[in-house]
Amino acid sequence: MSTSMKTQTPITQEHIDFYQENGFVKVVGMLTPGELAELRVYLEEAMQSEGENSKTTDQIGGSYYRVLNQKVNLWRYHAGMGKYSFHPRFAQSALELTGASGIRFFHDHGLWKMPEDSKATPWHQDTPYWPVNDAQAGMMSIWITLDDVDVNNGCMAFVPKSHNFGKLTGIDFLNPQNIFDYVEGGKEEKQKPVIVPLKAGSCTFHNGLTFHYAHSNVTDKPRRVLAIIFMPDGITYNGKEHMVTDGLGFVAGQPITGPRFPLLAKSEE
Ligand code: SIN
Ligand code: NI
Repeated sequence: MSTSMKTQTPITQEHIDFYQENGFVKVVGMLTPGELAELRVYLEEAMQSEGENSKTTDQIGGSYYRVLNQKVNLWRYHAGMGKYSFHPRFAQSALELTGASGIRFFHDHGLWKMPEDSKATPWHQDTPYWPVNDAQAGMMSIWITLDDVDVNNGCMAFVPKSHNFGKLTGIDFLNPQNIFDYVEGGKEEKQKPVIVPLKAGSCTFHNGLTFHYAHSNVTDKPRRVLAIIFMPDGITYNGKEHMVTDGLGFVAGQPITGPRFPLLAKSEE
């Protein structure tokens, strides 16, 4: 006897079509109220703890900290974060949106935009920072907010269809270049950015090539976000340094697999 184990997701054909066309999509109510409450506790604990296995990008007072208070691979430090970073509903949603045959975990990060002297996250693509070949192959992120977000506390904005502009340069978050200067032939002029306010427990997904931006936080509370990076099964390492692959013995051209990068969802056939 076989029973279907397919994980249920909130993803509709409309979400899939929108994501494929525009390179991002908003999904309302990704977390249940109970999950939202639990994840807030876990993420608070994880962001406050110091451990060898999770990496903090900058300390209070640092310039990067004004853009993002960021901690990478929280799952390695807080077991409760593993429940969410590897949550089958998130990976299955990524599978459905991308149409990949399988979805692997790449890394997670807590992305808090702190109050006071906050700076916007400049327009950028994510793929240039990742040590992978095949930029077009569908690397993507889920960005789950634990607070209601709007233009006052760091909601995101996206340029529709910019995932078709190719892999451009990595933007310096502290002294940002204008990414639009790198786009050939003024393609971006036809596409106005879309600002995406969200309720807590909702999320966006974006392709690693999609141009995105987050507003500064002018409120008096942190904006708390969990982002998880997913990669289609079969993505290969390009030999560049990166904190999540360094020291693991990957050679250029080798698929990124193994216990740090589990396959979390796969298509049924
Ligand atoms: C942010 O949360 O401010 C930026 C997120 C991203 O670049 O993906
Ligand atoms: Ni980004």
